[in-house]
Amino acid sequence: GAPETRTPTGAKTGAPASAKAQQGRFLTTAQGARLRDTDHSLKAGPRGPVLLQDHHFREKITHFDHERIPERVVHARGAGAHGVFTGYGTADALTRAGFLKKGKETDVFVRFSTVLGSRGSADTVRDTRGFATKFYTDEGTFDLVGNNMPVFFIQDAIKFPDIIHAAKPHPDREIPQAQSAHDTFWDFVSLHTEAQHHTIWNMSDRGIPRSYRTMEGFGVHTFRLVNDAGETVLVKFHWKPKLGVHSLEWEEAQLLAGIDPDFHRRDLYDAIEAGAYPEWELGIQVFPDTPEETFAGIDLLDPTKIVPEELAPVQPVGRMVLNRTPTNFFAETEQVAFHLGHLPPGIDVTNDPLLQGRLFSYLDTQLTRLAGPNFPQIPINRPHAAVNDMLRDGYHQHAVHAGVAPYRPNSLDGGNPFPAGDADHAFVDVPVTVAEAPKVRANPASFDDHFSQARLFWQSMSPVEKEHIVRAYTFELGKCYHQAIKERQLQCLADIDPVLCAQVATGLGLPAPQSTRPLAEVTPSPALSQVGREWPAD
Ligand code: HEM
Repeated sequence: GAPETRTPTGAKTGAPASAKAQQGRFLTTAQGARLRDTDHSLKAGPRGPVLLQDHHFREKITHFDHERIPERVVHARGAGAHGVFTGYGTADALTRAGFLKKGKETDVFVRFSTVLGSRGSADTVRDTRGFATKFYTDEGTFDLVGNNMPVFFIQDAIKFPDIIHAAKPHPDREIPQAQSAHDTFWDFVSLHTEAQHHTIWNMSDRGIPRSYRTMEGFGVHTFRLVNDAGETVLVKFHWKPKLGVHSLEWEEAQLLAGIDPDFHRRDLYDAIEAGAYPEWELGIQVFPDTPEETFAGIDLLDPTKIVPEELAPVQPVGRMVLNRTPTNFFAETEQVAFHLGHLPPGIDVTNDPLLQGRLFSYLDTQLTRLAGPNFPQIPINRPHAAVNDMLRDGYHQHAVHAGVAPYRPNSLDGGNPFPAGDADHAFVDVPVTVAEAPKVRANPASFDDHFSQARLFWQSMSPVEKEHIVRAYTFELGKCYHQAIKERQLQCLADIDPVLCAQVATGLGLPAPQSTRPLAEVTPSPALSQVGREWPAD
């Protein structure tokens, strides 16, 4: 029989998978009136002007005129795929989350992206990659909105507009389109030195992944898990690709940007269509939920820091298989809306100031990008859990809500739902104590170390990886017009590692500055340069 098809949210439909754009015997207007002709406008005689009364003409052109919506302010270029997540049951002692229970299958939609380029930019540029997963769980949607790098440029979301203004193309010439090779980027990261750790990840081979299928994913922030007994732990989320981590060579990346700017998008779709389904394992690093929120001296609220895997191994909790390409790019990949506040019972946020700001930003931007507050009703965004809310009206309202009393308690409508108890899969905010402290615009002192983990990263690299990093800094900084910016970034490199600094300085034809601070004693972390890992048997 005909292959089974599903709507973008996974609900089964009757339409065959091979459905064509137009079906039925007649083309119609949007109002269903059958058309005799869609190729000629209504004119005053064959040589006369077009008549304003031509409704079909106006409907067709007007709809076309409004086909575009704003691209995402960041992560504009992306590619998505549907799949299934299966829990291992290994996190049951730590979290109530039902989708992690052993054997539980949950539909997912993943959108991979570059950060800086616009919708039509090339896939293989040097950039961070987004790795955003929507889990349509029975207990409500869970969005894990991560990147392919475990750290971020800034520690406080209030700087996000600033780093993006610096990293996007220059306001005057609008170049470069999608790379870090420009003055404002290096100006920012050399002045806001907390960005140095993320920057060295970008300059490494991680900045030019071979395929979405060979990327790790990271939730970056520390999250809080809560179990049935109300006990909590702090965790960091990791996606490990079954194929291992692989990157392009810089020359390959540059050639591909010309030969096939859709290289990653094509690779994802071709692999799925060929039945070579991409797979990842989801894992967590687990830390005790102590009042200090630190582990091994590392501040878990600082998103510019990793916790090395030797100190806290990644414990597998489930696996994801991507097995279906979208039917329609716009409906699914373009209109999908992720949000860190979409949490199921058993997972909660922490006070990481970057995470806290993101909780505001995504819904806010989506109100513009998707025109109003009803985008959760767009098929790709609809939860698979039953929805019973008191939200009403607004632009693009599709629901026809019955009844007169969208408030509770009420005495007019029969339905008068009460809050769900824990046993009913209710989301309960973890009652974390908020310290009594003066209001202050400041970071904790533990956020001040900007260089030791960048040094740890550098020291963990193999010789060939180091060579790639030196070449990347030399190429990208070499595109700067302003010598003072190159010199300031070289100073940052000196504070990461003198050898790195000397090699990049040689490449740029500039003197290598001396380090201005004591270099951290770091223990190189072999896990960082490991390109594959043992994968559990099926
Ligand atoms: C979009 C990741 C920090 C604002 C995205 C996307 C990803 C992502 C993966 C693309 C989602 C998609 O495919 O639709 C991250 C990570 C961050 C981070 C891992 C740090 C750990 C921030 C911060 C802000 C921010 C600090 C603002 C304060 C946005 C906005 C979008 C976006 C406005 C566009 C969302 C949309 O239009 O739907 N981010 N981001 N991000 N991010 Fe972030």
